[in-house]
Amino acid sequence: MEKSRILVVGGTGYLGRRIVRASLDDGHPTYVLYRREIGVDIDKVQILMSFKKQGAHLVEGSFSDHRSLVDAIKQVDVVICAISGVHFRSNQILLQLKLVDAIKEAGNIKRFLPSEFGMDPARMGHALAPGRVPFDDKMVVRKAIEDAGIPFTYVSANCFAGYFVGGLCQLGKIVPSRDSVCLLGDANVKAIFVDEDDIAMYTIKTIDDPRMLNKTLYIRPPENILSQREVVEAWEELIGKELSKSSISVEDFLANLKGQDLATQEGLAHFYHIFYEGCLTNFEIGDGGEEASQLYPEVTYTRVKDYLKQYV
Ligand SMILES: NC(=O)c1ccc[n+]([C@@H]2O[C@H](COP(=O)([O-])OP(=O)(O)OC[C@H]3O[C@@H](n4cnc5c(N)ncnc54)[C@H](OP(=O)(O)O)[C@@H]3O)[C@@H](O)[C@H]2O)c1
Repeated sequence: MEKSRILVVGGTGYLGRRIVRASLDDGHPTYVLYRREIGVDIDKVQILMSFKKQGAHLVEGSFSDHRSLVDAIKQVDVVICAISGVHFRSNQILLQLKLVDAIKEAGNIKRFLPSEFGMDPARMGHALAPGRVPFDDKMVVRKAIEDAGIPFTYVSANCFAGYFVGGLCQLGKIVPSRDSVCLLGDANVKAIFVDEDDIAMYTIKTIDDPRMLNKTLYIRPPENILSQREVVEAWEELIGKELSKSSISVEDFLANLKGQDLATQEGLAHFYHIFYEGCLTNFEIGDGGEEASQLYPEVTYTRVKDYLKQYV
C-alpha cells in the first residue's frame, strides 16, 4: 500500500521534530510547515534544513495567511499538528482553528491529528482552573474538527518521559537527584510514562490504520504504568543508593497553587490530577479508543528503567 503523504505542523518543536523523524523513518513522503515568522531563529532553520537533508519537503506558510495553509494542505493526505499547548512553553492550541478552516477548504485530507499528546481532554471536564485551559482549548478544536466532518485521530500520550521520569515526577525538575525526592502523597497512584520517540512512532502508525479512524489512541505501555514510588525505586536501583524522602499531602500541594503564576498553577494542577487523583489510569478505554501497545505489539517501547539509565 502506498504510504500517505504527511504534513507536520509545529515540526521544529519538542514533540514535532520527533514526529517528523518517525514519519521519515517509516517511509512516508514527509512535508514540514516552514513558518515565515521563525525569521532568524537559527536553531529552527537548522532543524528544518536537517529534515530537508533527510528527504523532507519544506512548505512555506503562515497561520496569518489562510491561502498558504490551504496550498500546503493540498499537497498531502494527512496533517499532524504538534503546536505548543502548555503555558510554560506557550499555549497556541486555538490557532489550530485556522488549520481546521484550511483543511475544510482544501477538502482532500483523509486524517487530521490535532495537537493533543497528553491527558485525554474529554475526561478532564472537572479539571482545576486554570490548569484546565489547555484541555478546554483542545475540546474546542475537537468540536471544530468534528463539526467540519474532518476524519481524525486523537492521541492521548500520557506523561512525556523527559519531563516526568527525568524529574522523578516532581514539578520543575527534569533531572533525577542522587540525594532526595519529594513524594506526592503516598506516591502509590499509578501514572503512565512514555518516551517521546515512542509517542511519535505510535502516532505515525495510526495514519494508514483504518482501525484508528475517528478514534483516540491511548498509549499505555504495560511496563510503564507505574507509581511515583516505583519510578524512584527504579532510579535507586540504578544508582545503588536510597534517596532521602519527604512527602507532601494533597492539602499542602493544593495550597501551593495560590499566588503562583499561570504556568506554575497549570503545572501543579496537572500533577495533582495525575499523581493524587490518578486521572490517567482510573478509567477503562471504551469503544471510542484503542490502546497503542495492543494495536502495535511489534513496537519495542522504551521501559522507564531503561530511560533512566541516561542520567546515571
Ligand atoms: N504529555 C505530556 O507530558 C506533555 C508535555 C508537554 C506538552 N504536551 C503536549 O504536546 C503537544 C506539543 O507540545 P510541545 O511541547 O512539543 O510544543 P513546543 O515545542 O512548545 O512547540 C511546538 C511548535 O509550536 C509552534 N508554535 C509555537 N508558537 C507558535 C505560534 N505563536 N504560532 C504558530 N506556531 C507556533 C512552533 O512550530 P514551528 O516548528 O512551526 O516553529 C513550535 O515548534 C501539545 O499539545 C502539548 O500540550 C504534552
